[in-house]
Amino acid sequence: MYRVSVLQFEPKLGDVTFNLGQIRQLLSTLESDLVVLPELCLSGYVFNHSNEIEAQDPETSEVFSDLKTLSREKDSSIVLGFAERSGDKLFNSSALINPDGSLKVYRKTHLFYREKLFFNPGDTGFFVAEAKGGIKIGMMICFDWQFPESMRTLSLLGAQIVCHPSNLVMPWCQEAMKTRSLENRVFSITANRIGTEANGAQSEYFTGQSQILGHKGEILIRLATDSEELATVLINPNLALDKSVSPFNDVLADRRPEFYKLS
Ligand code: ACM
Repeated sequence: MYRVSVLQFEPKLGDVTFNLGQIRQLLSTLESDLVVLPELCLSGYVFNHSNEIEAQDPETSEVFSDLKTLSREKDSSIVLGFAERSGDKLFNSSALINPDGSLKVYRKTHLFYREKLFFNPGDTGFFVAEAKGGIKIGMMICFDWQFPESMRTLSLLGAQIVCHPSNLVMPWCQEAMKTRSLENRVFSITANRIGTEANGAQSEYFTGQSQILGHKGEILIRLATDSEELATVLINPNLALDKSVSPFNDVLADRRPEFYKLS
């Protein structure tokens, strides 16, 4: 069995030090193999100008050294959303940090709303990587859920668990993810933030209800709309390797791509 966790909290806009402290404190009781944190959870979300974004280069940033230490101390893989600086470009990214110090970065493919003013569209594409114990995980970020191709690609690549750091502002994702997990027969962990974040004339309310779903789309745990919480469930990730839905049907092998229009 494999322990998977979701952390829901309220980052403070523009205060990476505070947010890192919160993460450390909220994860102090963590006993897990894999924990997922929200999108942009070091920087906050509602920007008016790109110079407000305290972005990290994961190869050189001290914040990432601290996160690697945390992953090692807790003996848990950590997936979190962060603002990434690469040269003069900013990306809305997520990182998989493993207890052995290995790191993988995914850059958000489908930017949402005003993110397009500040971030470059992701250029990594979707990929699968190994978390603690060799479990294959895929990453997608928030609005990527709206495009079924995101999770389908990850499942075709062999993801057993889809890690989904989010800052959700619309009401549909949590329910829609049941279908994404069911149609792909993969576990999913959506880590959403809570609270209202205001910056000048801009303001967003985030919907909480972070959740861990089973490979049949069942809710294993769903958190409240407004409280900071860490939750853990036990799963068998190998169930996601079996795509059969009847002795005659397999949700991946039965596909008929020659009849689909995908572009
Ligand atoms: C979103 O993609 N943050 C809604």
